[in-house]
Amino acid sequence: MSLAEHVCSSDSFLERNELQTSSPQVLHNRRSTDQPVRRDSTLEFMLGSSVAIQSVADQIRRVAPTSATVLITGESGTGKEVTARAIHDHSDWKDRPFIAVNCGAISPTLIESELFGHEKGSFTGAVRAHRGVFEQADGGTLFLDEVTEMPLELQVKLLRVLETRTFVRVGSDREQTSDVRIVAATNRCPEEEVEAGTLRCDLMYRLRVFPIDLPALRERREDIAGLAQHFLDSLNAADHTSKSFSPGVITLMENYAWPGNIRELKNVVQRAYIMSDKVITERDLPEEVVRAEQRSGSVRQKGGTLTVEVGTSVAEVERNLIFATLEHCKGRKENAANILGLSMKTLYNRLRKYEEEGYLH
Ligand SMILES: Nc1ncnc2c1ncn2[C@@H]1O[C@H](COP(=O)(O)OP(=O)(O)OP(=O)(O)O)[C@@H](O)[C@H]1O
Ligand SMILES: [Mg+2]
Repeated sequence: MSLAEHVCSSDSFLERNELQTSSPQVLHNRRSTDQPVRRDSTLEFMLGSSVAIQSVADQIRRVAPTSATVLITGESGTGKEVTARAIHDHSDWKDRPFIAVNCGAISPTLIESELFGHEKGSFTGAVRAHRGVFEQADGGTLFLDEVTEMPLELQVKLLRVLETRTFVRVGSDREQTSDVRIVAATNRCPEEEVEAGTLRCDLMYRLRVFPIDLPALRERREDIAGLAQHFLDSLNAADHTSKSFSPGVITLMENYAWPGNIRELKNVVQRAYIMSDKVITERDLPEEVVRAEQRSGSVRQKGGTLTVEVGTSVAEVERNLIFATLEHCKGRKENAANILGLSMKTLYNRLRKYEEEGYLH
């Protein structure tokens, strides 16, 4: 299966694999760090052609065949799960299980048993023995999603597994060996979580052997048209239709900020596809995408560049520059204020004014 196909089917594929089990078999020395780096053009196609995402593709290619633990960060919808899956699919153990666990979705009382398994009768309701995800993923990849949501006391246990490669089922005293490649992900900033006391510092360093930070979609606007077309092609192929975008629609999409990133783009394309007859026009886009264009007036943003038409007011240029800088700093006001050479007080005053004027929603 090519990676392009993999992307189209990744949601259902992940669901199917969520609770996949495998025979508990320990494979030794199956990973070598000195394998040649695989050149795979389909990976490039999947991720887009921007410099930002090409660098990510290169990191995936290099890290996939090694056993290094990977920590993927990025805003919601940037493709963290897709990236984890791509790392697995480009590894030598791609035919072994890929198990995804959402650490934020399991109740704190069950998470230990979900991770490490339990013995029959080890707690009320444990009517039979259960294999945890470390056993299920044996020989393959364990994807720990939303890892910063894990209760602190369990973070200690996870750290121990990462360090000793052994774990114990709840209610057992028998140590078992774990041979899994760990890929973790979070849409939070790990350093901020450490500062807030919700992520153990030692665990962060242990997970962040190989960090991959996924760019927000607005930081790689040149990929928007290609991704949108990719989603439309998939819908056309599934329904045997041949709908297309009007040129104006692509421009609108390229100028929108996409706070929900690729997921939001995919949903917008799907909705527009359903709403349209043959050609997808502005009318088929949600209001917020169209409104963003109206707001941008005579200042256009593309990637990290603002183009200003002569005849634009200084106030409008300033407003757009502030918004673009905030986007660039992923919303971190202190960084944005530094770059802009404004005091925090001035930046806050400007933002309050823009809110009153209806530029912020
Ligand atoms: N490079 C890509 N090419 C095509 N589709 C993609 C790509 N990356 C992500 N997607 C699609 O975008 C959606 C979101 O991706 P994914 O679930 O991997 O994001 P996420 O970062 O894990 O989001 P969250 O933080 O909300 O869990 C999915 O439907 C996925 O199929
Ligand atoms: Mg995810």
